[in-house]
Amino acid sequence: MQLAKLLWSSVGKKLLTGVTGLGLSGFVAAHLAGNLLLLTDNPDPFNEYAHFLHTVGHGKVLYLMEFGLIAFFLTHIVTGVSIALNKLRSRPISYQKEGNAGGNSQKTLSSLSMAFTGLLLLVFVVLHVKHFKYGPGMEDGYQTVLHGETVRDLYKFVVEEFGKFHMVALYTLTMLMLGLHLRHGVWSAFQSLGIRFPKFEIAIHQAGLLFSLLMSFGFIAVPLIVFAKSLK
Ligand code: HEM
Repeated sequence: MQLAKLLWSSVGKKLLTGVTGLGLSGFVAAHLAGNLLLLTDNPDPFNEYAHFLHTVGHGKVLYLMEFGLIAFFLTHIVTGVSIALNKLRSRPISYQKEGNAGGNSQKTLSSLSMAFTGLLLLVFVVLHVKHFKYGPGMEDGYQTVLHGETVRDLYKFVVEEFGKFHMVALYTLTMLMLGLHLRHGVWSAFQSLGIRFPKFEIAIHQAGLLFSLLMSFGFIAVPLIVFAKSLK
């Protein structure tokens, strides 16, 4: 009870948002590394990787990872939205009346933009998982043979989807939102965790910026390159 109270205090919520945010950033980096396999012309490495994730430990490892991922997502959303709402409530004057007053007002604006990009990413993740993970499978003809075993040809489906201009445009816009969210989020997470030594301030800021640029443009590169190849 005491622990729950502590975690739901303003410091606790910031800590939870920071820790889950850094965990989700780890997932995003690992996901991008796996997706880079889509850039080879050979479908096997990507399909093998996807098949491995689904079958390792008889599928139990993936279930465990998904459980952790969902727990992190939900905690991050609930605590993040609560922090943004608190900041909004504690702000005395509305933007419509006074415009941006600087100082705290700037902070509220960045929290609001975090809430906006965060909720957009939530909508994206739900649609994205439905589209790719629960999209057409072997029964729909997306199958290939790996080491004598017939498996789902996820490579074929993803490459087909990124041959469509509207999909590439949608992914590019969303990945720019991801970059904005990470840019402020990584910095803010380190602040919440108390890592705010003046000596490292610039280094942490630049590391956050570099990470967000790498993730954003790394993810954008995948649909763009696949689309460019489809035009040949
Ligand atoms: C170019 C960008 C991306 C591509 C090509 C891509 C591709 C994929 C594919 C093919 C799957 C299905 C994997 C499977 O069923 O084995 C998947 C699942 C998933 N993706 Fe992405 N993804 C991209 C960006 C993102 C981003 C930016 C996020 C998060 C912010 C994300 C979150 C997820 C999640 C949560 C899953 C479900 C994982 C699971 O339950 O196994 N993806 N993605």
